[in-house]
Amino acid sequence: NEYPDLVIVGAGLFGLTVAQQAVEKLGVNVRIIDVRDHIGGNAYSYMDPETGAEIHKYGAHLFHTSNKRVWDYVNRFTSFTDYVHRVYATHDGEVYPLPINLGTVNQFFRAHYTPAEAKALIEEQAGELAGTDPANLNDQGISLIGRPLYEAFIKNYTAKQWQTDPSELPASIIKRLPVRFNYNNRYFKDTWEGLPVDGYTAWFEKMIDDPRIEVSLNTDFFDESQPYNKRALLEAGVPVVYTGPVDRYFDYDLGELKWRTVDFKEVRYDEGDHFGCPVMNFSDADVPYTRAIEFKNFNPERADQQNPDKTVVWEEYSRFADRDDEPYYPINTEADKALYAQYKQKAAEEPNVVFGGRLGTYAYYDMHNVIDQALTAYEEQIEPMLKKD
Ligand code: FAD
Ligand code: NA
Repeated sequence: NEYPDLVIVGAGLFGLTVAQQAVEKLGVNVRIIDVRDHIGGNAYSYMDPETGAEIHKYGAHLFHTSNKRVWDYVNRFTSFTDYVHRVYATHDGEVYPLPINLGTVNQFFRAHYTPAEAKALIEEQAGELAGTDPANLNDQGISLIGRPLYEAFIKNYTAKQWQTDPSELPASIIKRLPVRFNYNNRYFKDTWEGLPVDGYTAWFEKMIDDPRIEVSLNTDFFDESQPYNKRALLEAGVPVVYTGPVDRYFDYDLGELKWRTVDFKEVRYDEGDHFGCPVMNFSDADVPYTRAIEFKNFNPERADQQNPDKTVVWEEYSRFADRDDEPYYPINTEADKALYAQYKQKAAEEPNVVFGGRLGTYAYYDMHNVIDQALTAYEEQIEPMLKKD
């Protein structure tokens, strides 16, 4: 048999976790293929020589979890820094802390409200549309936090994210807009968070550091000129884990699932620190991008390896994705959900193939979710598939 015991399509966190588990638990030979020229999927990063910043190529990635199984698992391959995620927003010429908290509220209203006073004020403002069902995202936002804060911090940001006026977006896009009635501006509420000490790529390489795992980059599952292609593997009955787009697998024969993508514009500054923080949101309509990432500031512990006089910033522009764009956020309209349900059925019927990851199951997942799902899929579906042969 010229084929390995298992072929994994996609070297993202789902595929890497499955490969690591299959080798550790069964000692099988695994081939991972990826159409990109690197492993790590969307969590991949690289070092920028000029500034010493670790650039997250597909957008800022912060690791956080409250799942003990996942936290123990990832710590086998990397340690994490004590980075704590915090985000700021520029609105009308001022910088505010996010998520909206008592500091944001008091700065915005030029007040010194106590938690109870702020809560009463927001409740009163949120009552503007009392008794009506929010007809669109605008009404929903006003009903959740009141018009002043909604219009300052949510409305234009959301319009830029969706390239659509919020009065034309469904209310269901925003289910909750939590306001914190204290000064805590720690972004994540999870038990553990941090960034991999030696970077994301070192972490991912460690996961597959075993001679029984081989990787083919620049290799497309649908390219029949390479040996690990869909037709050849299906004919030979080789077990496959597929983490690419589920609609692409079936040649889009039921239609296309819709995504949003993000374009990044790189800007370099001749100064050591441009924002003083890693993530600056721009809440107003006059700035065309949603937010800017200053990568150096994710890793202050590396100051002595970073250029003190230069920094690099990526501005993020959000838009609807075409078929050739990187799919980032599932749009998830009712029509998309119904279409995915049909693809899911077809995927379940596909012999010797397990679909997984964010693209294979048409969902937005954080890294810890994907690792948890991969560990479970390995136990419940992939190991049984491998033992069957
Ligand atoms: P992916 O990482 O997408 O990997 C799938 C791989 O399959 C890709 O490498 C792709 O090239 C490959 N592939 C697809 N088609 C083919 C083909 N035909 N042939 C061969 N290979 C193929 N998570 C967090 O926990 N914290 C964050 O802060 C965070 N920020 C994010 C920001 C953005 C902008 C985005 C989009 C995501 C963010 N995430 C974050 C989520 C995180 O990226 C995902 O959870 C994770 O990357 C999912 O891993 P995956 O293996 O499912 O998919
Ligand atoms: Na290897």
